[in-house]
Amino acid sequence: MAIDAFMKPSILVARAVFPQILTLLEPHFEVTSNQDDTLWTPAQLIDKLQGKQGVFTTGSERIDAALLAACPDLKICANMAVGYNNFDLQAMTAAGIKATNTPDVLTETTADFGFALLMATARRMAESERFLRAGLWNRWRYDMFAGSDIHGSTLGILGMGRIGQAIAKRGAHGFGMKVIYHNRSRLDVATELNCGATWVSKPDLLQQADHLILVLPYSAEARHAIGAAELAQMKPSATLVNIARGGIVDDAALAAALKQGVIAAAGLDVFEGEPAVHPDLLTVPNVVLTPHIASATMPTRLAMAQLAADNLIGFLKHGKAVTPLN
Ligand code: DGY
Repeated sequence: MAIDAFMKPSILVARAVFPQILTLLEPHFEVTSNQDDTLWTPAQLIDKLQGKQGVFTTGSERIDAALLAACPDLKICANMAVGYNNFDLQAMTAAGIKATNTPDVLTETTADFGFALLMATARRMAESERFLRAGLWNRWRYDMFAGSDIHGSTLGILGMGRIGQAIAKRGAHGFGMKVIYHNRSRLDVATELNCGATWVSKPDLLQQADHLILVLPYSAEARHAIGAAELAQMKPSATLVNIARGGIVDDAALAAALKQGVIAAAGLDVFEGEPAVHPDLLTVPNVVLTPHIASATMPTRLAMAQLAADNLIGFLKHGKAVTPLN
């Protein structure tokens, strides 16, 4: 459909959003929204996208070559997430479709959560709360829920982008931790100094870390970056935290490793095939499980939604997205 110069472009907001974001979009666009938050099938999403020039997505909507071929009016997909593994970026670029994400606005909030999950895991907070709520607490005991220390320990970070660096600063400067990281490309010396972090090889990271946090983006190569072989290299006292993406950890191998005491504990905010969770993880006591909420504070989620909206307005109204991926 050709857009008349006087016609407002049409967009689809594919999931429920803050009402003020719809208010922001409505003067610029004919907006079709999904405030009931219905989970559409790919075919239903294609149907809803007919005649739409833009779509506001979350990490849950898959945008691939088949969808693009079936939606000839589409020009931009604005993801309300920094991660974009729901986008086939190559297919989008080949089809001339703009892709955008929401970097920066969630960095500190997500780093806070990484630390919260690390502390909850190492200090056995979820496990001990379940014990208390079950009415099992009837005395003090010298080793009751004795976990491992955060301060002064060695923090390992796999993936050292913006969020990894924000976590490193918290560890090095706030908790006096020795911080080591592994990343395909090494940071420059000034950034390493600022983060208090030292680059090591992946085997060294696995072997030396008391706590290992995963913050690398998902890619085909990152799938099962932590599986049985990697877990076997970690210390038996170590904790593992995944706030990156499901599928980076082999969840079945992790559940087995936790049961066998290969590592001490894990904290997971993301899962292979989420919102489904591997059933074995649900039976293991020494794992803290949260439903993909690392960026979930009200101000940060609002900032993410605002940035996704600004990308739609910037691109469809002024020809320039704020945070383009291609
Ligand atoms: C992101 O921004 O990628 C988060 O995982 C979604 O909340």
